Amino acid sequence: MAKIIYLDNAATSKVFPEVLDSYQRITTEYFANPSSIHALGQKSARLLETSRAQILRTLKLDNHEVIFTSGATEANNLAIKGYCFANKTRGNHIITNAGEHPSVLNSILEMEQFGFEVTVLPLNDKGVVEVKDVVHALNKRTILVSLMAVNNETGAINPLEEIGEILKTYPKIVLHADMAQAIGKVPIPLDNIDLFTFAGHKIHGLQGSGALIKKKNILLRAINAGGGQEYNLRSGTNTLALSASLAKALRLIVEQQKDNYQHIAKLRDRLLKYLNEHPDKYKLNSYFQANPYIVNFSLLNRKASVVVEALSNRNIMVSSLSACHSKKEKHSAVIYAMCQNMQLAANTIRISFSYENTLEEVDTLIANLEDILKEIKQ
Ligand SMILES: Cc1ncc(COP(=O)(O)O)c(C=O)c1O
Repeated sequence: MAKIIYLDNAATSKVFPEVLDSYQRITTEYFANPSSIHALGQKSARLLETSRAQILRTLKLDNHEVIFTSGATEANNLAIKGYCFANKTRGNHIITNAGEHPSVLNSILEMEQFGFEVTVLPLNDKGVVEVKDVVHALNKRTILVSLMAVNNETGAINPLEEIGEILKTYPKIVLHADMAQAIGKVPIPLDNIDLFTFAGHKIHGLQGSGALIKKKNILLRAINAGGGQEYNLRSGTNTLALSASLAKALRLIVEQQKDNYQHIAKLRDRLLKYLNEHPDKYKLNSYFQANPYIVNFSLLNRKASVVVEALSNRNIMVSSLSACHSKKEKHSAVIYAMCQNMQLAANTIRISFSYENTLEEVDTLIANLEDILKEIKQ
């Protein structure tokens, strides 16, 4: 089979071989249910707790709890709905922004049915939320601010540290951050974030693994009824092998974070140099201060879906819209929120890197893009 160049790592990433080994070993050696009180069950329960502790150690957190979930979608639903249902007597106003992943935005909009008011802040032309807009939106009824750390389409980084500092002076308000595209990739201080979420498959862990991490004093209500596993917040038989593999993938990616960042910044710089040299063909939607893992651009005079398919036919895998949108929507709501231009929002291409990509692969991508743009009629 011809070599495939995989540049869609923000959609999902290839599993670390070490993580797969652990998964296999744990499913055979630790197959008992951690809720069983016999010795084998207790052996599983100990590994589950060790995995939680390992995650907190890796992230240097000590006043937090880890709730294992099936991924970032479930974790975001639990964080948002669980927090709102448990705290609705304290207020009924939520602040978020137009760039959020549907698992956040739609969870928040659902809360309108339960009497919550929602402020959806705009994005600026760099794809981030303005701190002054957040401050302006706060009111006496606000109990939750939910802002993603890194945007999954553009790689833009929201000013969470600054916003967290400001929210410290509002004891009733908690800050939730979707960190699915940030964890193990870009340094985001976690001290002022009350609840955050991530998924294993974005960090070379397994699909179906993820977590919500929250400060111990944050009260949540379960959104699914059941046997009360995971601190009574996520019922269902514990997914021990997935949970342990998440802890391992996180440890590995955090250990590699600095080296990966430097390597990927070189790939990003090469691609940006090319895109910037051709303003007649491309409009960049990612900016230098954004993280290097994601480069998003719009095609000025070609259809993105046609170009993505042509690249795929040449064994180069990239996205047009992010994976969660591509089937049902015809344009990127995030790019539209940044530029209010439907043509640009409908013709975006997202390149997302991993540590395995090389400069040669970026050169091959560029050469093929050039070729395809010549080949395809306007
Ligand atoms: C920012 C962000 N949040 C949430 C998700 C959903 O993650 P999962 O697929 O693990 O549910 C994704 C995945 O695309 C994402 O990029």
